[in-house]
Amino acid sequence: MSENVAALVPGPAMTLTLTPVPVKHPAAGEILIRNYCIAVQPLDAKMLLSGYAGAGGIKTYPGLLGTSAAGVVEETGEGVDDFKVGDRVIADTGAYVKDGDANLREGTWQRFVICAVETVAKIGEAQFEQAVLLEFPLQTAVVALQLFLGMGKPSTGNADDKVLVWGAGGAVGTYAVQYAKSVGHTIIVTASPRDVERQKSIGASEVLDYKAPDTLERLRALGPYKYLITASGDLASQKALASLLRPEGGSYASVLGGDFELPANVKRVYAAFSQAAQSEENEEFRRWWYRDYLPKVLNEGLVQPVSFTKRSGGLAALQEASKDVVEGKVRGKIVINPQED
Ligand SMILES: NC(=O)c1ccc[n+]([C@@H]2O[C@H](COP(=O)([O-])OP(=O)(O)OC[C@H]3O[C@@H](n4cnc5c(N)ncnc54)[C@H](OP(=O)(O)O)[C@@H]3O)[C@@H](O)[C@H]2O)c1
Repeated sequence: MSENVAALVPGPAMTLTLTPVPVKHPAAGEILIRNYCIAVQPLDAKMLLSGYAGAGGIKTYPGLLGTSAAGVVEETGEGVDDFKVGDRVIADTGAYVKDGDANLREGTWQRFVICAVETVAKIGEAQFEQAVLLEFPLQTAVVALQLFLGMGKPSTGNADDKVLVWGAGGAVGTYAVQYAKSVGHTIIVTASPRDVERQKSIGASEVLDYKAPDTLERLRALGPYKYLITASGDLASQKALASLLRPEGGSYASVLGGDFELPANVKRVYAAFSQAAQSEENEEFRRWWYRDYLPKVLNEGLVQPVSFTKRSGGLAALQEASKDVVEGKVRGKIVINPQED
């Protein structure tokens, strides 16, 4: 087995240091993955550059970023019989919900990653890039809509029920549109004017410019909405959704928090959606996601992934890539291969 290298974060908001570290061995119920692909998520990038730890994050330093990895099973722990060495997999780890040594075992910004077997899915012949492009933001969208807002599973919905996805241009928004469409609902979105055709091709019936002055008025005329989510999470979007819920009231999901006064009968549903599968109480969702839904989506190409840029240089490219993500310089995701020098 080759050597492990980790992109360690030495302290809050400090620059990554590429450090040789031992390859860990899986305990009972765990697997070791040779990590071939990671995507830089806004959460990872914000944690690196600002020390932000709003959704879990690194609690002890040096620490490791990254909670998703695509690669090949290198070793299995005791009691793992549904995965074998050589299987191609996508995994989510507990790196942002566990401390200290567990974070260093499970952070995915390294070449070899330990993961609990419950949060690993087989990807068959799907490309590693396709797997990481989908996994984290698709799960965020589905958890928010299904677990937190009560939307059903695919093919269980009704076209009379309307869904509003605000800020559908990013990965979470793109996948919220496709999931809600697969359930069977009618989807209305706000996005940039340049994104209209793509939004229609993935299932939106109406695409409104989120910056246009008459958008709120037009959205009100197109409603009411059974499910509302802001995938940009900015305050302007939250205020718009809160306003659309009046006078009857109701709930909307937001990928970000924020400080402003909501009307008494309007509730914002904000949580670390991307980490929900790690929690014991979501065992049923977890089984459905990793054993059923995610492998099916990847093997059958059921969800159109967002675009991506591959950066060379392996783990060394992560610092600059994170800066570009935080500064909004990239459309789609940046992916790297940790095995590259
Ligand atoms: N709570 C959670 O569990 C959770 C999980 C994942 C992500 N998040 C958060 O969700 C946000 C989106 O993540 P992502 O992975 O989808 O990011 P992304 O793929 O990088 O999406 C960025 C895109 O969103 C659109 N956008 C940016 N600002 C906007 C605004 N003010 N209004 C409307 N659209 C806007 C832009 O597209 P256009 O220019 O085409 O409009 C931009 O290209 C991030 O802040 C991330 O931290 C939270």
